[in-house]
Amino acid sequence: MNSRRYVIYLAFALLVVFGLLFFAVNDLLTKRDTSEIHFLIGVAQANLSEPWRVVMNEEIKETIGTYSRVRVIFSNAGDSPERQKEDIDKLIDLGIDLLIVSPVKSSVMTPVIQRVYEKMPVIVLDKGVEGYDYTLFIGSDNRLVGKQAGRFVKKRLAGAGGRVVEITGRSGSLPVEERTLGFREELKDAENIEISDSFSADWLRDKAEDITTQNLSIIRDCDIIFAHNDAMAFGAYRALKKHGVDDITILGIDGLTGPQGGLELVRQGVLQATITCPTGGKEAVIRAMDILQNRDGLPKKIFLRSSMITRDILENRLQIASPAPRDPEEPIVLGFAQVGKEGAWREANTRSIKDAAEQTGIELLFRDAELDQDKQIAAIRYFIEQDVDVIAFSPIVETGWEDVLREARDAGIPVICSDRTVKVSDETLFTTYLGADFVEEGRRAAQWLLEETRNEEEILIVEIEGFPGSAPAVDRQRGFHAVIEQSDSHRIIDSQSGNFIYNLGYVAMSQFLLRHDRIDAVFAHNDDMALGAVKAIEETGLVPGEDILIVSIDAVKAAFEAMMEGKLNCSVECSPLLGPQLMNAVHDYVNGKELPFRINTEEGVFPRETAKHYISSRRY
Ligand code: AHR
Repeated sequence: MNSRRYVIYLAFALLVVFGLLFFAVNDLLTKRDTSEIHFLIGVAQANLSEPWRVVMNEEIKETIGTYSRVRVIFSNAGDSPERQKEDIDKLIDLGIDLLIVSPVKSSVMTPVIQRVYEKMPVIVLDKGVEGYDYTLFIGSDNRLVGKQAGRFVKKRLAGAGGRVVEITGRSGSLPVEERTLGFREELKDAENIEISDSFSADWLRDKAEDITTQNLSIIRDCDIIFAHNDAMAFGAYRALKKHGVDDITILGIDGLTGPQGGLELVRQGVLQATITCPTGGKEAVIRAMDILQNRDGLPKKIFLRSSMITRDILENRLQIASPAPRDPEEPIVLGFAQVGKEGAWREANTRSIKDAAEQTGIELLFRDAELDQDKQIAAIRYFIEQDVDVIAFSPIVETGWEDVLREARDAGIPVICSDRTVKVSDETLFTTYLGADFVEEGRRAAQWLLEETRNEEEILIVEIEGFPGSAPAVDRQRGFHAVIEQSDSHRIIDSQSGNFIYNLGYVAMSQFLLRHDRIDAVFAHNDDMALGAVKAIEETGLVPGEDILIVSIDAVKAAFEAMMEGKLNCSVECSPLLGPQLMNAVHDYVNGKELPFRINTEEGVFPRETAKHYISSRRY
């Protein structure tokens, strides 16, 4: 064959190969028949040097395998934010429909994720990013993980006290900060327990081994090593073993399965305990499919459950309640104990729950506790007697539930906290919490106020609080105060409860106006009380929204109307439309799916300038 002919044949062959490839990829990416949906998911992984991330990818792959005609492409940034940016661009060029990203560094990846979110859904896994420009976040509650570690230490050193050495993951990373914070919070009252040293080993086993060896003289004197992951815990163990030290308790985090996983290390007695920290890979794929198929009731944040695992627990398999076998022909029975009828928000919440139960064929036993904790406890006991499949309730206050929750657990009935949550010493007493992030709502209200009054020299604020001891009152206050305290020109001069009720909001504001010559702004924990405050301000001849700024929470229709009239300045959204998510969770539980620890709903901020635009689309 002469060389010219050879070149022509070769060019032709290449053309055919590329043509076929192009059509194969094009077919994969663009075919959208309605009977069988076809999706491509991109995964931008931070690194694969941590075993936990390898497991995350495996879970993603395995779960994707359970769906037909869905494909996945993985990238590995090798812990470089620059490389992760490039990876994401490449994934987009390949035509992905949805991005799952586990960010290398939250601050650097925030604007990148924002940009992708303008084009397609994005699930952020493991480390959160700043703001809300993503579709869904899935991760662990790392502060709670830290607290769980603290509880373990307290129990282990009970009475005698002792010293703890901490080996943390990469410094500056959010999980490290949160775990450290939770750990210290839990130990702050334990006077005889000292955190004697803290070393960073970047999440790596070998580095933890080196650090332990280098600091052996300090570390061998401690009673417990708390390592922020099992790999580092194992590294510390190896160093201690080499030097003949075998009397230190070692606690890790992750609890992975497999031969080198934390569960096996606990079973062998290498570690005395681990706290499970699910990777979220499976959950991410399930939620990705919900997002891609536009399912109803999608949350904004999902926090996965972390559980303390000791050898005892492994041997006795003391796990959280799993569904009892039931006749699939029988309707699912849900007992729901509502707070009361305090205002427009609650009415919308009750309607959402009743409608969603009806639409999904769930039989609902509904009880109204009329703002009385004893009545709510009695309602839960009634549901236990009736042997319902699931109990849900919106706790009037945060504390005082341990006994009744234990009774439900002993009866094998799962309890879902809906809208509000409880404070308990053992988080396995409830199955999941679904609702808002109240601290964040308080923060957002404060951020709006700071921005609105940024040029003022001094702003005097009064606060109308919700029902004392309830989660929204406690947390909204916490979030609001934390942000306001950062400003030198803003001061909260008075605070009074209005129980989330219009009339009591009016009373509180009337009293503030009598007590103070000057008030510049009101923060009301809900719209109903803010509207009561509007009335009180008007009665003094002042102009609400002008002479006194008002920011509140809920974003009910009446608040939009007040904003349109200029009487209210801003409302932070707290969605009462929890019915569809609650029913999804009930169905999932009954069908044997593991529920996350916490599910947060999506919420916006509505300053009055935007009210006109949104009022017609408000659903409550
Ligand atoms: O728990 C949610 C709060 O309860 C709402 O913000 C308030 O209006 C309601 O009473």
